[in-house]
Amino acid sequence: MKRTIAIVGGTGAEGSGLAWRWARAGEKILIGSRDAARAAARAAEIASRVLGAEIEGRENAAAVAESDLVVLTVPFSAQAATLKQIQPAFRPGAALIDTTVPLAATVGGRATRTVGVWQGSAAEQAAELVPDGVCVAAAFHALSSELLRGEGRVECDVVVCANDAGARKTAMELAEKIPGIRAVNGGPLETARIAEQLTALLIGLNVRYKVRAVGIRFTGLPIPDPQL
Ligand SMILES: NC(=O)c1ccc[n+]([C@@H]2O[C@H](COP(=O)([O-])OP(=O)(O)OC[C@H]3O[C@@H](n4cnc5c(N)ncnc54)[C@H](OP(=O)(O)O)[C@@H]3O)[C@@H](O)[C@H]2O)c1
Repeated sequence: MKRTIAIVGGTGAEGSGLAWRWARAGEKILIGSRDAARAAARAAEIASRVLGAEIEGRENAAAVAESDLVVLTVPFSAQAATLKQIQPAFRPGAALIDTTVPLAATVGGRATRTVGVWQGSAAEQAAELVPDGVCVAAAFHALSSELLRGEGRVECDVVVCANDAGARKTAMELAEKIPGIRAVNGGPLETARIAEQLTALLIGLNVRYKVRAVGIRFTGLPIPDPQL
């Protein structure tokens, strides 16, 4: 049976961009929202752009309950509360891909700064808030929604951090469903604290160079990764 990807907060810029790209790649998507009607409207909008798209909208917890693969795309200020709300809905053994960047802007500060997270990173905070047996991968922090919403190739690397090999592999495969993206194995989940910080740097570069979608390409890597 075809897998379903639930995107919690999928009505927003990042979640909608990922949904649009993955729907085009033939993935089955459930857009999640606090409001089922808003989710359905966003899903319909994406479906109107993709011939044969399999995409629907649900309230967040309902989307999670129907999927073994959940992608979290809410602002850092809403991350913990959202995870607590959807926690009972996770299927046993599901995987969570967390995209959260702890930008200070989400709590009233600057977009070029981050806030400290007690657990070390937003991803490690997420890992504490999902049920036992749900594995977390952190990814897509440096992938601008500006690039996702277009039709062209997305020329950047996506660093994936995870403790679980299966969650890492799934996140890397999903990243590479988007034309132009190369997935890079960033190591354990704790490395997400570095990956998350880089986004604040990228936002600063966007401001200084008056552009909208600075990304990252690493050089010198043997890709595909022979260890995977
Ligand atoms: N935007 C980017 O370019 C980008 C790039 C890399 C990573 N990210 C990360 O991706 C995540 C989403 O970013 P975004 O720009 O898509 O954010 P966003 O558009 O501001 O918000 C995404 C969705 O989160 C839900 N949401 C907002 N406030 C909430 C609250 N208080 N409680 C529960 N849900 C709430 C909303 O959905 P409903 O109102 O429909 O529930 C909203 O559509 C962030 O953690 C960000 O750091 C973003």
